Amino acid sequence: MKLVINSPRGTADIYGEDIKYRDFINNAARTIFKIFNFNELITPAFEYTEVFSRSIGEETDIVQKEMYTFNDKKGRSLTLRPEGTAAVVRAAVEKKMFGSGNLPIKLFYIGNMFRYERPQKGRMREFWQLGVEALGSDNPVLDAEIIWMLNLIFKRLGFKNLVLLVNSIGCLKCRKSFIQEFKKYLEPKKAGLCGDCIKRLKNNPLRIFDCKVGGCAEIAQKGPKISGYLCSSCKTHFKDLTDALSSLSVDYKISDSLVRGFEYYTKTVFEIISNDLESAQNALGGGGRYDNLIGQFGGPELPAIGFAVGIDRTIMLMKDLGIGYGPDTKNIRAYLVSLNDECKGYMLEILRLLRDSGISCDINYTSRSMKAEIKKAEKLEFDIIAFLGEDELKNDSVTIKDLKDFKQYTVSKKEIVGKIFEIAGRI
Ligand code: HAM
Repeated sequence: MKLVINSPRGTADIYGEDIKYRDFINNAARTIFKIFNFNELITPAFEYTEVFSRSIGEETDIVQKEMYTFNDKKGRSLTLRPEGTAAVVRAAVEKKMFGSGNLPIKLFYIGNMFRYERPQKGRMREFWQLGVEALGSDNPVLDAEIIWMLNLIFKRLGFKNLVLLVNSIGCLKCRKSFIQEFKKYLEPKKAGLCGDCIKRLKNNPLRIFDCKVGGCAEIAQKGPKISGYLCSSCKTHFKDLTDALSSLSVDYKISDSLVRGFEYYTKTVFEIISNDLESAQNALGGGGRYDNLIGQFGGPELPAIGFAVGIDRTIMLMKDLGIGYGPDTKNIRAYLVSLNDECKGYMLEILRLLRDSGISCDINYTSRSMKAEIKKAEKLEFDIIAFLGEDELKNDSVTIKDLKDFKQYTVSKKEIVGKIFEIAGRI
């Protein structure tokens, strides 16, 4: 008899075009992780169950319903990781990564996660995440950098219309007063809540915001707002974060009802969503600050923040929106021009920078007029000209001319790769 076995429900065999998408996403993310100075950490695919149950929170859906938990042959309870954060913190504490001069520790990971959820489009039982965790600083500028990085990954992939939601759920102290008021608001509305949420109302009412059943989340959203209950330190932290996001030109929307489904979160929470996805699965990535988790694991009392991106969901949406993978979708070509001999060394530096970033480029070997060089660039079908002159050399900058629309930009050396990717429609 033939043995016919399907892959388990909610899992996928990944091959062909999907591998190309995954490589493209992972490479784009790895480039950005490198630019932001994050190092890779690979943790096991399973951990002792407490690693997740105690950090994610006993009252969450993930711990109550979605974990793949089993006993090994010696009767120890193990769980396939439903997320990466708790495992990263466990590893950092266990391996004593925290030195006095190396904070924040910046780590990234790419791996498969397991949640026993009802499979549907964009929701799987085995799925892949890439994520970062920065351990050891509560500076709101770090929050802004982390959110900026999340945003940048999607821009680099070619997404245009995503919405970045941010909120603060406060520290444990200010959350207590909110929860009191929130419970008061919900008590008379109990009849409209599902059975699980009636239980949550007693033990952990914030989770009602994440309820996927009936109108529970909607009732929660119409209640008091957590922003009205933040203590002055949490308020200042949130203001400094949003100011930093504005300084970095990151577009964001404050969402009062964003609380996220993990109990370890404190203060900043954020999510990047697409209105092209069904609302129950519209988040491509999300994260937040977790200032008490390292201490809970027996490590030093250090604050931390991170995010994770769902790779499968991102691929699904790229395909739906017709976003291609790989540089061959739009392989931008740059022509480096200098008419000044003194710029030679600087020109080679820029040439290396661009080629190292995978941008195809060439330089002018003979110094002619700018007009002649533009003509040559057009003839050879370059997309942009990067011009280096006396001013550029003095200011460590480059002037870029987009040969499609003849717009011109002067950017610093550090920004040139980003600007070229932006022109290519990749940022
Ligand atoms: P999360 O929001 O649970 O956060 O997951 C992050 C992303 O993983 C989601 O936005 C979604 O794209 C994807 N994802 C989650 N569940 C599934 C599923 N069943 N099927 C397909 N994709 C899924 C976390 O996991 C936190 N650890 C993020 C974090 C890092 N917070 C701080 N640091």
